[in-house]
Amino acid sequence: MSFDSLLPRPVSATPAPGTCPWPSTVDVQAASLPAEGYRLEISPAGIVLHCGDAAGEFYGRQTLRQLVGPDAFRAASLETGLTVPCGVVEDHPRYGWRGCLLDVARHYRTKAEVLRFVDLLAAHKLNVLNLHLTDDQGWRFEVPAYPGLTSVGGWRPSSMAGSGGEQDGRPHGGFYTGDDLREIVAYAAARAITVVPEIDIPGHARAALAAYPSLGTEESYEVWTGWGISTSLLDPSSSTLDFFRAVFDHLLAIFPSPVIALGGDETPGATDEHRKFVRLLAEHLVSRGRTPMGWDEVLDIAGLPPMVIGSWQNEEAGVRAASAGHDVVMCPEQHVYLDHRQSAHPDEPVPVGWVHTLEDVYTYEPALTGPRLRGVQAQVWSEHLDDVRRVDYMAFPRLSAFAEVAWSSGTRDYAEFLPRLREHHLPRLDALGVEYRPLDGPHPWQTRPGVPGRPR
Ligand code: ACM
Repeated sequence: MSFDSLLPRPVSATPAPGTCPWPSTVDVQAASLPAEGYRLEISPAGIVLHCGDAAGEFYGRQTLRQLVGPDAFRAASLETGLTVPCGVVEDHPRYGWRGCLLDVARHYRTKAEVLRFVDLLAAHKLNVLNLHLTDDQGWRFEVPAYPGLTSVGGWRPSSMAGSGGEQDGRPHGGFYTGDDLREIVAYAAARAITVVPEIDIPGHARAALAAYPSLGTEESYEVWTGWGISTSLLDPSSSTLDFFRAVFDHLLAIFPSPVIALGGDETPGATDEHRKFVRLLAEHLVSRGRTPMGWDEVLDIAGLPPMVIGSWQNEEAGVRAASAGHDVVMCPEQHVYLDHRQSAHPDEPVPVGWVHTLEDVYTYEPALTGPRLRGVQAQVWSEHLDDVRRVDYMAFPRLSAFAEVAWSSGTRDYAEFLPRLREHHLPRLDALGVEYRPLDGPHPWQTRPGVPGRPR
């Protein structure tokens, strides 16, 4: 392996003659370095890793793993006589928020799958897992005071095949206990990842309405078996507010994240009362010492406390949020939605929305700069990702490209990136057992004939 193979690209990598045998002890030394930064000095005599914080040490070790070679990404090493190239790597990230949203509401992911996803984020030096826990199609977060949220809201009898397609007639569901989530949080923290949980209100809440119809305005609701934007909204009454204050309080007891997400997106027919409801829940989170995060639709709400805004509808929303005094995470659908099709080819499975190629993701550059920009986030919505193999297919290698957008400063050249990815990084993904999309198109078993899509 050589320093040219590193992904994401470090700030600087200066080779020196010789190699260091591996495994080798790593002498970790405290240093004054930028947050999450490290300096790795490799000589034939040994390895010194300078870092200013635990994340820096973690990332230095990830870089070392890349330099050892793909074997270091297996669950057990198969090779002997491995070496590491000598030289010095200096590195720190471009952004403090290098996120990925994982939608576990539309399709439940087992706890083991979530832990594996955390490992994959960590291997790419991403540091935020935005866990989308609730939606119209499922509620995945156990709240002991309201058991119906998961006993009713965690299950649906069927799902739509593709966009606007037939029902598949196959029941689907699942949820996480508080201990499952504490385990995920601790596992992620050990890998320098913060889990930012999301409970989506006042739309995207039909699973909660199905469990407790008094939270809405209709007599009864069903956990949604379709995809799209539901017009069912929570009734913004004081009793609904009390209910969700209690739900968020339970969430806060499990997730130590300084930022807690409350959704706020896609609320057709919302009134001033709905907007006030979102503001009051945002204020509730502030009163508990956390910073609320909302999708950019919440910018229409008057009197919001300072929040983190996920700018997803377009780049302009992030610019507007920053000038209104909010922090911003750029996650525009036009660039970093990894549920969108990866080519215009008819065999491309899960054909949602626009084509976002690997190159589109790699060349993404946020329109917003300055202190309000916390960072960037890729989004893995899961309407059409009904198993872990589809998640692998849609997320990789685009998430590898995104990792470099999030971590590496300076210009990006797709022609420079592509051989580095093909020759050095895809073998790491192979060793990790990731079933990524091959660069020249899906394997035959990765296509999905007959499932209707919505190409734009
Ligand atoms: C979103 O994609 N509705 C945030």
